[in-house]
Amino acid sequence: MSKPLQTVKSDPHVDLSACRTDFPVLAQEINGEPLVYLDSAASAQQPESVIDAVAEYHRHNHANVHRGVHTLSHRATEAYEAARDAIAGFINARSRREVVFTSGTTESINLVAQSFCRPGLKRGDRILLSQLEHHSNIVPWQLLCEQTGAELLVVPIDERGELDLVTFNRQIESGVKILAIAHVSNALGTVLPAQELIRRAQQHGVPVLLDGAQAVPHMPVDVQALDCDFYAFSGHKMCGPTGIGILYAREQHLERMPPYQGGGDMILEVRFEGTTYNDLPYKFEAGTPNISGAIGLGAAVRYLTGIGMERIAAHESELLRYMTERLSEVPGIRLIGTARQKASLQSFLLDDIHPHDLGTIVDHQGVAIRTGHHCAMPVMDFFGVPGTARASLALYNNRDDVDRLVASLTKAKEIFGR
Ligand code: ALA
Repeated sequence: MSKPLQTVKSDPHVDLSACRTDFPVLAQEINGEPLVYLDSAASAQQPESVIDAVAEYHRHNHANVHRGVHTLSHRATEAYEAARDAIAGFINARSRREVVFTSGTTESINLVAQSFCRPGLKRGDRILLSQLEHHSNIVPWQLLCEQTGAELLVVPIDERGELDLVTFNRQIESGVKILAIAHVSNALGTVLPAQELIRRAQQHGVPVLLDGAQAVPHMPVDVQALDCDFYAFSGHKMCGPTGIGILYAREQHLERMPPYQGGGDMILEVRFEGTTYNDLPYKFEAGTPNISGAIGLGAAVRYLTGIGMERIAAHESELLRYMTERLSEVPGIRLIGTARQKASLQSFLLDDIHPHDLGTIVDHQGVAIRTGHHCAMPVMDFFGVPGTARASLALYNNRDDVDRLVASLTKAKEIFGR
């Protein structure tokens, strides 16, 4: 039986200040100022334990997995598979067979589009997305539409950056073959009502893929409680290495899906007359995998679990409340993305200063933020802007970071004479 979803509450008493020293990259100056890192939505920093786990593997245990009888290959295989177990536990998958290593969220979504959806899609079938998707949850579906004649349907958003649920409820019953939707928006920080969307989709027999890239690092995620069909996320946004990610999928889907790529490791037997495929999840892991990435991601999961995702969520929720309040006080600021349920980040514009100029000026003061369209051009189109500045939080941020951001914006205003 699935566990109920936990509700994340802001709690000013959660103190994660001791975590900051776990992240060696943060202890440096940039342009003569102590680094303030507010770009974790693009890529989060790695704690010492992740860096060490990867280094330990390279120093002492590097070999290929699943292939050797020698000691190093056994060690590498053990560490790689232990990472899978840690990740399965972290998201509460029913079985390790449901946890596929990929290169990241993008590959996970492409895998579902090509392997789960493509074989059954026909002209006129519909794929339902939302206006606030990251490009990685748009373009794979556009490719699929070109290949099959299927069509995209897009759930609109409102000025706050919330989903138009009335329209969604109409769209979901109009011949939709899959709902592929963000759990948390990377450009706006909106937390989508995932459980409600999934429940509605299930009423109409529509499978659901959640893009969890911006959710997994910031809140407890339980795939059984969500009852989603697919859940995609990336290692580097959750304090792990780049180039590694996960596709969680219900076992019954993976059993039926054809392989996404062919190659070594995903086979049982290869003859020129035909090939039989490996068991789950290896059927979807062709070729030598990103072994060190997986081991690093396993270490990241252990690190986050050690702190506790509820505590991380409560800390970030309180910090986001503080950041929103402080940013709102800056004259000339326009907050983009003001949904009632938000996580971890705030997009904004300041006067008529171009976001890239703003990003450069705050960087001169040691403050790292992201600027641009955040790989979510349809969101920018909706708000009628070419891009925004975006400050995004992680467990290692604190109020001083927010104060430094606000001070650097005030300085930018002075420089631009605003
Ligand atoms: N998807 C990443 C971001 O939001 C790159 O910045």
